[in-house]
Amino acid sequence: MNFITLQNKNQQPIKSQGEAFAATNIALIKYWGKRDSHLNLPLTNSLSISVDGKGTHTVIKPITGNTDVIFVNKEKNSIESSFAQRIIKFLDLFRLPQQKFEIQTENNIPTAAGLASSASGFAALTLALNDLYDWQFDKKTLSIFARLGSGSACRSVYNGFVEWQKGSLADGSDSFALPLDISWPELKIGLLILSSAEKPISSRIAMQRTIETSSSYQQWPALVEKDLALLKTALFNKDFTLLGETAEHNAIAMHQTMRDAHPTIDYDLTETRAIKEKVKSLRKQGLPIYCTQDAGPNIKLLYLADDEANIKKHFSLF
Ligand code: PMV
Repeated sequence: MNFITLQNKNQQPIKSQGEAFAATNIALIKYWGKRDSHLNLPLTNSLSISVDGKGTHTVIKPITGNTDVIFVNKEKNSIESSFAQRIIKFLDLFRLPQQKFEIQTENNIPTAAGLASSASGFAALTLALNDLYDWQFDKKTLSIFARLGSGSACRSVYNGFVEWQKGSLADGSDSFALPLDISWPELKIGLLILSSAEKPISSRIAMQRTIETSSSYQQWPALVEKDLALLKTALFNKDFTLLGETAEHNAIAMHQTMRDAHPTIDYDLTETRAIKEKVKSLRKQGLPIYCTQDAGPNIKLLYLADDEANIKKHFSLF
């Protein structure tokens, strides 16, 4: 099915358990659209920043028995649920047929509400498997593995600024993320949780429908290329205005491609629209603040450390 090769690597777990934490990532230049939906191969590059300390912690243990056992935030998941089935399908890519696991996964961000919990979830699971089997794969390979669980997960095997190279090969062996050699600790991401309910339509389905039916999707790859170049200039020059304008523009354009789909896709709640207006109005009043939004109603604020106290007066951040 894909290019995973475990040749010369341990086929049996080496430790009694594997364990890992992965931070979630927020795309400043979005991944929206696949050229291969089985391997999660994207049509464009994307660029993200990780959110320190917010993400998924996963422990994986080999067990005897006929089925896997999966706990999310200490609650046992039905093995029939679509979430459990996604995890099982992913594990089957790597393990011997009879091998079963108990998985304990804990998110300190809401699951499936557009806060990228699947990104940190599949990255943490990949890193935990690498630990359990003591494979010692490099990060590039682990990024490819995580991508098979959820596209954006390939960026969550690193911290900091990360670019996912779309690649061009059919087997996906050149589609992985790499960290950018940039440090900008003053740049802050604020999470605003307006709803932690599961989103009405998954990013997988929304992406597919957008590609198939949206009139404005045609312009998306060229727009990403332009935004990506601007965003990198902003990062290299530590130009916050250019970064904020570009990231916000890119998110607005992504949501426009969804609104132009049939049936239309609109993740906004009334609160989402109100927050976006508030950001615009505060900016007009001189506060340097921008926002971005993924496949869900929640908003992520972009601002500089010096303005944090002021931002916190206007918003209750997660
Ligand atoms: O990795 P997925 O299938 O959950 O897709 C994520 C898509 C966005 O969050 C909307 C954008 C991105 O680049 O993270």
